[in-house]
Amino acid sequence: MAISPLSLPLPPQAFHFVLGGETRALVRPVRPADLPYFVSGYARLSSESRHLRFFSQASELSAKQLDFLTHPDHRSHEAWGALDLKDAEPIGIGVARYIAMPERPGIAEVALTVVDAYQRLGAGSLLHACLHLSASRQGYRRFYYDVLWENSGFLRYLKSLGGKVVGSEAEVANIEMPIYASSIEVPQRDGTAMRFARLMHDVMTAAPIDA
Ligand SMILES: CC(C)(COP(=O)(O)OP(=O)(O)OC[C@H]1O[C@@H](n2cnc3c(N)ncnc32)[C@H](O)[C@@H]1OP(=O)(O)O)[C@@H](O)C(=O)NCCC(=O)NCCS
Repeated sequence: MAISPLSLPLPPQAFHFVLGGETRALVRPVRPADLPYFVSGYARLSSESRHLRFFSQASELSAKQLDFLTHPDHRSHEAWGALDLKDAEPIGIGVARYIAMPERPGIAEVALTVVDAYQRLGAGSLLHACLHLSASRQGYRRFYYDVLWENSGFLRYLKSLGGKVVGSEAEVANIEMPIYASSIEVPQRDGTAMRFARLMHDVMTAAPIDA
């Protein structure tokens, strides 16, 4: 019998997390006042990462893009972000976002961005885990990803988590995977999936903070 999303415990609304053993981060959903982090984060993103995320190397985000990216409604559009707390002024680390696909009920499209200086520390997986936890509580069932074929590391990661290629355009792979409501739902067939399941558990057991 399917579990109602309403009966699932919620993830903490904000929490601290140590990335890569030393970077103390604040993790929470994105809010409109985060706009400066998006401006400076995009400026610190390499042209390669801009290309892989936005399929473009534009020198900056437009005012319209910034407005959209910083105004998730936390239901049909959710975004979790991480901030590095090492300095008095926090520094943007990365964001994971889902946006409902109106023409496909129960499915939401995902995009992830981690600033190059913070990549490979686990931030992308952590924010992705937050997204699974949030989306499952909103009743979504599957995530969809458009990923450039050249983004082989990320494609491998999604496949490890149960992602399947469901379509293909010239340069883009269309991937879908189930949305996991808890760590035990993650098919733990390799180290990547086991790390992801542990992160989901870590998020659910993190001490909530006011932030
Ligand atoms: C993809 C991205 C979000 C991953 O963030 P991250 O913080 O570096 O990810 P993590 O440290 O949590 O690692 C996640 C996994 O992805 C793998 N991975 C992702 N991109 C990779 C790449 N380009 N090369 C090798 N491995 C990659 C990592 O090896 C890791 O797998 P593991 O758990 O088996 O070690 C980040 O590299 C990024 O922003 N890239 C540019 C934008 C992009 O490609 N977005 C995805 C398309 S929307």
